[in-house]
Amino acid sequence: MLDLLITHATLPDGCQNMSIAVQDGRITEVTEGLQAPAHETVDAGGLLVSPPFVDAHFHMDSTLSYGQPRVNESGTLLEGIALWGELKPTLTHEAIVERALRYCDMAVARGLLAVRSHVDTSHESLLPVQALLDVKQRVAPYLDLQLVAFPQDGVLRAPGGLDNLKRALDMGVDVVGGIPHFERTMAQGAESVKILCELAAGRGKRVDMHCDESDDPLSRHVETLAFETQRLGLHGRVTGSHLTSMHSMDNYYVSKLIPLMAEADLGVVANPLINITLQGRHDTYPKRRGMTRVPELMAAGLTVAFGHDCVLDPWYSGGSGDMLEAAHMGLHVGQMTSQAAMRQCFDAVTVNPARLLGLEGYGIAPGCHADFVLLHARNPVEAIRLRAARLGVWRRGQRVASSPAPVAQLRLPGRPSSINFISTGSS
Ligand code: FE2
Repeated sequence: MLDLLITHATLPDGCQNMSIAVQDGRITEVTEGLQAPAHETVDAGGLLVSPPFVDAHFHMDSTLSYGQPRVNESGTLLEGIALWGELKPTLTHEAIVERALRYCDMAVARGLLAVRSHVDTSHESLLPVQALLDVKQRVAPYLDLQLVAFPQDGVLRAPGGLDNLKRALDMGVDVVGGIPHFERTMAQGAESVKILCELAAGRGKRVDMHCDESDDPLSRHVETLAFETQRLGLHGRVTGSHLTSMHSMDNYYVSKLIPLMAEADLGVVANPLINITLQGRHDTYPKRRGMTRVPELMAAGLTVAFGHDCVLDPWYSGGSGDMLEAAHMGLHVGQMTSQAAMRQCFDAVTVNPARLLGLEGYGIAPGCHADFVLLHARNPVEAIRLRAARLGVWRRGQRVASSPAPVAQLRLPGRPSSINFISTGSS
């Protein structure tokens, strides 16, 4: 007797009428039309069953702090950084834990079951680090939280920056972060990349840096990141987050840079919701979008993910833990409207970030964890279009969240009495 059987599922690759058999928290079989006795059977009715959403770039120490101690009046990156500086002295362990747990509740409801969160290591107290390590342990039964030691004030620029980051790693933080474009000079930024990559290589850690998050076409720390990745043999273990300066770089230089990044098997995270709002702010018209070159990087074979980055914090007053919102924005900002590119936008919030995080047992295949989401959509493109309702969310074969299908009641002469927005006919 199976623990769980999902029937009549459509998978992201387009396979239809699929059954997913679950035993002891793992998928044991994925077969067309399978019927077998199970403690619980769920008929997906032809709707999409996807592996869970994964967010490769988030800040859980600041999330849901919007309005504390005041709102960001201008909505700019610089006022956001100043605001975070005002908030930091007032932070308490309990308040960070409470906000982070509340965010994880939202995430699970959205089918988002793995998050890589940067955690600010700038202050010697490492208060946010201890708080998020506690959260990581508490949410482990239902959400994989991976932490990045993030020196918000600069690892060389801030006194004690490198020591604090090392202590965060000693405490159990998973990944080495960085912020080279915020160091005092280009030379110090490059030096920080070298130091941090060597630190990661020495400790067997992955790397994920905020890198070149500016509109400055000469901010080229990603080149150093690719070089150090290759020099230290860290292929496939290093991610460059944001890389917004690539939007503004000279095309000839980029034609050399992207192959270097591909040689190093660098991971890339674009954060479309945040990039489109924070970059290009010194422009009049035309205004740059600021998002890195996602389609070109994907075409070169790099693993590219879309991150959420911020939800209701000093930098961003929107968001609700919905990775389909990030995919929707990425699709539009990157003009990724071909059939293949729209599907790639779905991959950018599922399989691609799972690869960057190095998640074990991710996917809908025999042997994988029984983690998946039933979406109120017939295929990945429709899921993005509708930011589809998460009808059911399963973790290790247990249902952890449900939402009703959205149906609007209509009162129109000669028209149906309700509408549910989903496409009709075959997918
Ligand atoms: Fe970030």
